[in-house]
Amino acid sequence: MTMMAQDEMASPDGNVVLKFWLSDQGRPMYSLDYKGKAVVKPSGLGFELAKDKHASMGDNEIDLMENFRIVNVARDDFDETWKPVWGETSTIRNHYCEMAVTLEQATERPAYKGRDNAPGLALETIVRKMIIRFRVYDDGVGFRYEFPQQENLNYFLIKEEHTEFAMAGDHMAWWLPGDYDTQEQVTQQTRLSEIRGRMKTAVNWGNSSVAVFSETGVQTSLQMKTDDGLYINIHEAACLDYATMHLELVDAQTKSLSTKLSGGSNAYTPAPKPSPYPLPEPLTFVSHLTPDATGLKGAMQTPCSTPWRTVMVSDDARDMLSSNLILNLNEPCKIEDTSWIHPVKYCGVWWEMIVGKSSWNYTDEFPSIKLDQIDWSKAKPNGRHAANNDKVKRYIDFAAKNGLDEVLVEGWNVGWEDWANMWKRDVFDFVTPYPDFDIKMLNEYAHSKGVKLLMHHETSSSTQNYERHIKEAFELMNKYGYDAVKTGYVGDIIPRGDHHYSQSMNNHYLYVIQEAAKHHVMVNSHEATRPTGLCRTYPNLVGGESARGTEYEAFGGSNPDHTCILPFTRLQGGPMDYTPGIFETKLSTWSDNTSWARITIAGSLALYLTMYSPLQMAADLPENYERFDDAFQFIRDVAVDWDDSRYLEAEPGDYITVARKAKGTDNWFIGGKCDENGHTAVVKLDFLDKGRKYECTIYADAKDAHYETNPQAYTITKRTVKKGDTLKLTEAPGGGFAVSLFAK
Ligand code: NOJ
Ligand code: CA
Repeated sequence: MTMMAQDEMASPDGNVVLKFWLSDQGRPMYSLDYKGKAVVKPSGLGFELAKDKHASMGDNEIDLMENFRIVNVARDDFDETWKPVWGETSTIRNHYCEMAVTLEQATERPAYKGRDNAPGLALETIVRKMIIRFRVYDDGVGFRYEFPQQENLNYFLIKEEHTEFAMAGDHMAWWLPGDYDTQEQVTQQTRLSEIRGRMKTAVNWGNSSVAVFSETGVQTSLQMKTDDGLYINIHEAACLDYATMHLELVDAQTKSLSTKLSGGSNAYTPAPKPSPYPLPEPLTFVSHLTPDATGLKGAMQTPCSTPWRTVMVSDDARDMLSSNLILNLNEPCKIEDTSWIHPVKYCGVWWEMIVGKSSWNYTDEFPSIKLDQIDWSKAKPNGRHAANNDKVKRYIDFAAKNGLDEVLVEGWNVGWEDWANMWKRDVFDFVTPYPDFDIKMLNEYAHSKGVKLLMHHETSSSTQNYERHIKEAFELMNKYGYDAVKTGYVGDIIPRGDHHYSQSMNNHYLYVIQEAAKHHVMVNSHEATRPTGLCRTYPNLVGGESARGTEYEAFGGSNPDHTCILPFTRLQGGPMDYTPGIFETKLSTWSDNTSWARITIAGSLALYLTMYSPLQMAADLPENYERFDDAFQFIRDVAVDWDDSRYLEAEPGDYITVARKAKGTDNWFIGGKCDENGHTAVVKLDFLDKGRKYECTIYADAKDAHYETNPQAYTITKRTVKKGDTLKLTEAPGGGFAVSLFAK
């Protein structure tokens, strides 16, 4: 391949260098270097379009892959500092160098006399325009495709996006199987060349909705480490009106892209057709978008643009965690009055259902439920329904006593008797409480104690049903004074055949966020698409799950290193409702569940720091916290919103240590979390104010603590410290530590 003239753009500090050119075939190409090392080798860009009667050129549709010419290269510098509504720091600097390349593709097509007319015999030349915009930061790059409104490109259908990321070596990678419907698998750590061999055992087909598409398909955010110590992360930013991107690795065995794996609950995905374009070199990732029920990947109308494709890079793992690249690539806040948005520490009527001790459903009487045919006042209670008045009051009292802001109550509304994976549309109405849940009384009781209830809308993935009821559902929340909702998307998507991360579903999640904002409601969505920084634009999106959360500690357990990986992967796009804080890790001590949480109590405390979120749950039962009230003091004390954050140590899958300064105060909190091997953190307190004394409380693993054999062994020590002092903290296998520093 002869290289044509290259356009180049370096980051503000010069370390990250982006190059752009056209291949001999006129295909857009780019590469990325960091401090002179290749991060992304020459890689192609472009789109394969669907040939379809609805496509812009019908069966003559031409791909946006080749035959481009460069008509303009515009360069710009940008440097601004903005204030997030909530966050890890009080201000965020957005500093980049931009290069926008305008491309034109001239192509011939049979002359049309208007869109619906049959083609004439003569050929006409048409020109289509596409802009590729690169933003080069000191910690990586974001680029996207933009399609201005134009005569010859109004509507088009994406068959596949062909954005390539050619890796420079057989890197170590922390990956999840590429899947259209779940992000809750165990993260795998292998070299790139080992992905194919690991795929079959990496997939747990028992999840409530699984649709794996390739033996080498992985999800983003994908964290990698090179043999010479570079940390590389591929993800996306601002995924709006577009399908979520996966990555398919071309390896030595690849013969064509997208070889479908069989199995899984969602058997309705049309098998992808192989691409006609030549395969890139082995160790190249190619974008793979989530299809909708038709098998297509996107219906576009110009003017429009894709999400930003992001590649973060540094030789220091801590930069992966402190990077704001993804937030910066999102649009500024679109909500004018944000005064109603606030961080939330909460507990909930939840863990005992997840563990299996009590139930979401009220009755076991009926083989199936039709919502409008049941007289709930006559239904026979099963005696295990958790969301009852007495129990909810007990949680409200617990929250009030311990300074928690809200109480989540799941299973309050009718419909849980046959809710998941029944292909049933009208599962819930989101407004009718079970007879033993007095919605008015409980909200008034909570408010009288300075606490709010946190709403739960499990949709059972019946999205049309939710959209039909959403206004009434939010009006009910407004009436009783709820200001936050946890949504859920368990099971295969209804309408049938659609997938959790398709363009249509991404539009659904956004619709919910926007409708919620109109009602001053904050959103915490479970099983929704992995986040891409939209919380900058819509800060009422205060949390989300979109990964394997603490619930899996009750479903067989997660590995001790899981929480040392998530901040590098899932958390890149926004905060996670991980629901930490399990103190009674052996669930069999209070239930029939033999699963156990792979973490120590001190490690659980650390998660309130290392798993950044403005929404944090204290997930265990009140009675388990009451047994360890001295350790629970840390959860009472810890802030959930920050003026400053300093990542002190980090290594993916091994350990993370972070210090954070609580918003609007001079108090600091430090957390350290490690994997199954233990870790010693040496923390120099050089971030404290000079000349000031701090009351320091250290919650540490006891000497003999261990996540399996001795998880509840911790020590609490107090001392006075000042700037420059050093803390040496020993973390047990599967453990961690937490420190509070109150300014005197
Ligand atoms: C899965 C969610 O992750 C969990 O938190 C919730 O309790 C259940 N779905 C029921 O909605
Ligand atoms: Ca879940």
